[in-house]
Amino acid sequence: MIICPGGQAALSGAFRALADPGDTLLVESPTYLGALAAARAAGLRVVPVPADTDGVLPEQLAAAFRRTGARLFYCQPLHANPTGATLAAHRRGEVLAAVREAGAFLIEDDYARDLTIDGEPPAPLAAEDPDGHVVYVRSLTKSVAPGLRIAAIGAKGPAGARLRAVRLLDELFVAGPLQQAAIEFVTSPAWDRHRRALRTELKARREALLAALRRRLPLDHEPVPRGGLHLWVRLDDGIDDVALANAAAANGVVVFPGRSWFAAEAPAPHLRLTYAAAPPELMDEAVRRLAAAM
Ligand SMILES: Cc1ncc(COP(=O)(O)O)c(C=O)c1O
Repeated sequence: MIICPGGQAALSGAFRALADPGDTLLVESPTYLGALAAARAAGLRVVPVPADTDGVLPEQLAAAFRRTGARLFYCQPLHANPTGATLAAHRRGEVLAAVREAGAFLIEDDYARDLTIDGEPPAPLAAEDPDGHVVYVRSLTKSVAPGLRIAAIGAKGPAGARLRAVRLLDELFVAGPLQQAAIEFVTSPAWDRHRRALRTELKARREALLAALRRRLPLDHEPVPRGGLHLWVRLDDGIDDVALANAAAANGVVVFPGRSWFAAEAPAPHLRLTYAAAPPELMDEAVRRLAAAM
């Protein structure tokens, strides 16, 4: 495990450590825009692979590996940001097989590990990878606080050695007192209580957003996410997602335009609505303002 100052630093370090400029990175489509930006900054060619509500399509992933010669795949198997999709149990083996067959690494961004609302989350993909093809990234940002800036990369063998070298070059190490604070928090009896409270509160916020949308602005959206922070909604063709997000911001509501989450041109307009950051009692007014902006 290599300790890093947050998941973003972990991702950009992993892209630089495991690929060279000009190499191809496969990503789910859509995917986390911070990963797209870090990959581009590392000089990688980003190639989207189709995904649906059950996560990435394994045959398409295998075909993309063959077609592009890529050796790296960035993946969020649990409550993906922005769609909320979780990689289905029946696809996990096929995804890992495609990665193994290509002699590639899969970077598993497990940012939402503590954010499951309904049921229990599946184990990380890394748990089913005896050979070191999965590089595991886990940050405390979403479950503790963005300001803590602590994450870990788990990697075996040569990948681990390369990652350690890159992180060492970037910042030598993360401040000891900060690491100590993180250790104390995640090993205290309050940690489990905190995660239970987080689930309960996330559920209340998700339900408040869904109810407000039903009441005021019935939009098509992905199946209700079983965890994570966001709802991914499909806008009618012809609606400009960026103009709508700007109009909503002018009305005091922050939403994210969908197009920046696609590595290539967006196939349709979307918005990412975050239910996590506002208390349930504000949601109705927020959606009223979004509807007015629309
Ligand atoms: C999917 C995903 N991965 C990684 C990050 C980076 O988070 P941090 O650097 O705060 O750990 C984020 C932040 O929004 C994210 O949504």
